[in-house]
Amino acid sequence: MIIGVPKEIKNNENRVALTPAGAAEFRKNGHKVYVQATAGQGSGFEDSEYEAVGATILGTIEEVYAIAEMIVKVKEPIASEYGLIKENQLLFTYFHFASSEELTHAMLKSNSVCLAYETVEKVDRSLPLLVPMSEVAGRMAIQEGAKYLEKPMGGRGILLGGVAGVKPANVLVLGGGIVGAQSAKMAAGLGANVTIVDINLNRLRYLEDILPANVDTVMSNEYNIRDLVKSADLIVGAVLIPGAKAPHLVTRDMLKLMKKGTVLVDVAVDQGGCIETCKPTTHEDPIYEIDGIVHYCVANMPGAVPYTSTLALTNATLPYAIQLANKGWQKACTLNEDLKKGLNVVNGKVVYKAVADAFGLKFTSVEEVLEEELVG
Ligand SMILES: NC(=O)c1ccc[n+]([C@@H]2O[C@H](COP(=O)([O-])OP(=O)(O)OC[C@H]3O[C@@H](n4cnc5c(N)ncnc54)[C@H](O)[C@@H]3O)[C@@H](O)[C@H]2O)c1
Repeated sequence: MIIGVPKEIKNNENRVALTPAGAAEFRKNGHKVYVQATAGQGSGFEDSEYEAVGATILGTIEEVYAIAEMIVKVKEPIASEYGLIKENQLLFTYFHFASSEELTHAMLKSNSVCLAYETVEKVDRSLPLLVPMSEVAGRMAIQEGAKYLEKPMGGRGILLGGVAGVKPANVLVLGGGIVGAQSAKMAAGLGANVTIVDINLNRLRYLEDILPANVDTVMSNEYNIRDLVKSADLIVGAVLIPGAKAPHLVTRDMLKLMKKGTVLVDVAVDQGGCIETCKPTTHEDPIYEIDGIVHYCVANMPGAVPYTSTLALTNATLPYAIQLANKGWQKACTLNEDLKKGLNVVNGKVVYKAVADAFGLKFTSVEEVLEEELVG
């Protein structure tokens, strides 16, 4: 198969969908790889590194779309790319269709095959292509929180780990999923006193078992959170209710209970945030203050560490991408249920129920489309 890797053109996106190691893997499997010039640069990979493993560098994005049977990307195509997408072309990337009617219609019109990273799903309902970014954001939350706790950055001026004779900081983590567990682990590693809250008792039992002794687990409810925010120096929001807006666990009035200079990092801001006073910010202007409380609410945290994020993402996407290239999407999706769940739009049909429901569009089952394709 012919694989195309365009340079990401969304604002401030420095990740790339394929590393030189990934290109080598495609070559080993007998595929041709075309990479747009400087596509890997933002993540630290030079064109020469792709060429060294047998990939061809193309000067323009138009050339990449024109030659490729499968496009691997990171972010959803933006308007200037819509016209470049060809009929039957396979696009493997994050789409987040339900949040963009314009994108959905553009991809329907293109008659391409859109396999979305975010809906590839394992039998245990985990989302293997979202997990790596949650891991990155969870770890980063503590790094950013520690930075903004410094006095010159607007924080309380407290060191997370304290020193001999001085108590460490208190870190409260709301939600003990992927993001929360990684945050708790990092904060504990730095020596902070960590409390993690969740509504899932089994999850708390698991976290209690695997996390170090300076992490306490507490049942999530308003009473406990209201009490915990009083002593917290850093609060990380990491709650997710799949498919729904995050609940506001920290309400506006709770800010008054906090110490001045407390830092709030709401990682869940991309789902509306679990801290009522959070609104999305960017890496250029990441924080703001309300009632003396510092709010950090960057919606694409992994974007700040493209080297780590690219490797983490491609470690997870590559095995699927290789299957798609080796077998073709029709066979690969028939044989692999995880991949089948990733199909969202196929040749002008919406095959993912939540996307059809979001915009009142006709829904066609994946099985129906696959049968047509395999018979045809
Ligand atoms: N800002 C960013 O750059 C960025 C990056 C990655 C992920 N995220 C977001 O971070 C959030 C968390 O992602 P995740 O992968 O950890 O999800 P996850 O599903 O692994 O974990 C969510 C946890 O929240 C818990 N929860 C649900 N309701 C709760 C409540 N009322 N109180 C306490 N806990 C509750 C769940 O039991 C679960 O353990 C998501 O909104 C995700 O989109 C943001």
